[in-house]
Amino acid sequence: MSGTPLDNPLDRKSQAWSALFSEPMSELVKRYTASVGFDQRLWRADIAGSLAHAGMLAAQGIIGQTDLDDIQRGLNQIATDIEAGRFEWKLELEDVHLNIEARLTQLVGDAGKRLHTGRSRNDQVATDVRLWLRGEIDALALLLADLQRALVEVAAQHSDTVMPGFTHLQVAQPVSFAHHLLAYVEMFARDAERLADVRKRCNRLPLGAAALAGTSYPLDREAVALALGFDSVCENSLDAVSDRDFAIEFLSFAAITMVHVSRMAEELVLWMSQNFGFIDLADRYCTGSSIMPQKRNPDVAELARGKSGRVVGHLMGLITLMKGQPLAYNKDNQEDKEPLFDTVDTLAGTLRILAEMVAGIQVKPAAMEAAARRGYATATDLADYLVKKGLPFRDAHEVVAHAVKLGLQRGLDLAELPLADLQALHPLIADDAPGVLTLRGSLEARNVRGGTAPAQVLAQVARHRARLG
Ligand code: ARG
Repeated sequence: MSGTPLDNPLDRKSQAWSALFSEPMSELVKRYTASVGFDQRLWRADIAGSLAHAGMLAAQGIIGQTDLDDIQRGLNQIATDIEAGRFEWKLELEDVHLNIEARLTQLVGDAGKRLHTGRSRNDQVATDVRLWLRGEIDALALLLADLQRALVEVAAQHSDTVMPGFTHLQVAQPVSFAHHLLAYVEMFARDAERLADVRKRCNRLPLGAAALAGTSYPLDREAVALALGFDSVCENSLDAVSDRDFAIEFLSFAAITMVHVSRMAEELVLWMSQNFGFIDLADRYCTGSSIMPQKRNPDVAELARGKSGRVVGHLMGLITLMKGQPLAYNKDNQEDKEPLFDTVDTLAGTLRILAEMVAGIQVKPAAMEAAARRGYATATDLADYLVKKGLPFRDAHEVVAHAVKLGLQRGLDLAELPLADLQALHPLIADDAPGVLTLRGSLEARNVRGGTAPAQVLAQVARHRARLG
């Protein structure tokens, strides 16, 4: 076929570059270097970026109005075809950018070949990824808010539901179930802040950087930024085409969020196990066992916990991808897409299902309360009681250790020990002591900002409701 005149050079990838190449690209190399199998997902951003670029080229008098009309008609046609699943993606055309451009030229002729004026695939792909990610960031922000709302609404019902609070997974002090859930809301709220922060640095326009050094055409970069909703333009062309730190930041946000998800999922799994029995998850979120008829397994929570691993892995992948790359663009950067895509899919799917599952959680207050009793959760309250009566804290700590020992010997909680036995341990223990030993008394006592007292917890609920709208 060599020597055949080509009306569209992009149709023959091996000769897309120039007449410099003396042989076609090897089949293996074609497959190894092609990204169209995954980067076609960027098509909307690619077309939006091209329309904005073409509009600016025409406004600047770099291409004619007829060319712009043709480009717009062609790109709209292509968008319709892709949407309808009619577009034929070709591996030979390597990536989403060359596929769309080649088809455009096929549809509208020379105007299609003028679209790439003052542009390179290097600034094009950087723009596409940023545009695409910005849209995903906005969608994820909504999902993150939904999950927080679900947690806050369950919490609103449980400011008086006492459960053991743990340190070292040993019963420590009573907390309300609401307080425990709201700890996760704080984590997810910070994740949302991080996401909003990533968006700022993601939302800057690379186009105009061209291959690496800028371009000699009189481009109006600000106009393109405005058309595409970017807050500003990247200020250094070498940096614009090469760094992917906005993506690394996004993956950092995602990895931290998934770690929070994983911690919560771990607790859901624990709480649902027979040994805790604090909650039940609706049947529609559980699976059975093919061999043990009694089993109901919290697979969704387990998978959410497990999927945190791949997201953390993607962060490691992308940050390592960047390391050691000399300025400016290198093909290494084509590897930024799959980790990003998979992270967005994993995180979105996880947040969506967790919000639903949490909203339907079945709480078992009696089991939570019984567990708090079993663990001498109010021991600190007895110590604090003695301190308030004048005993130094270290001595009070010692007295209470004896009380717990007594309780253990008799199989009784502190609140169940006869007052006389407590008084025998220390004369400062008076008949107002049993009041502080109840779980509720313990909760009420922690009425400091951020504490577990119901009044404080309801204030947290109100604050989150106002924030989340
Ligand atoms: N598919 C490429 C990527 O994802 C597009 C940019 C290619 N640029 C180049 N000079 N080969 O990074």
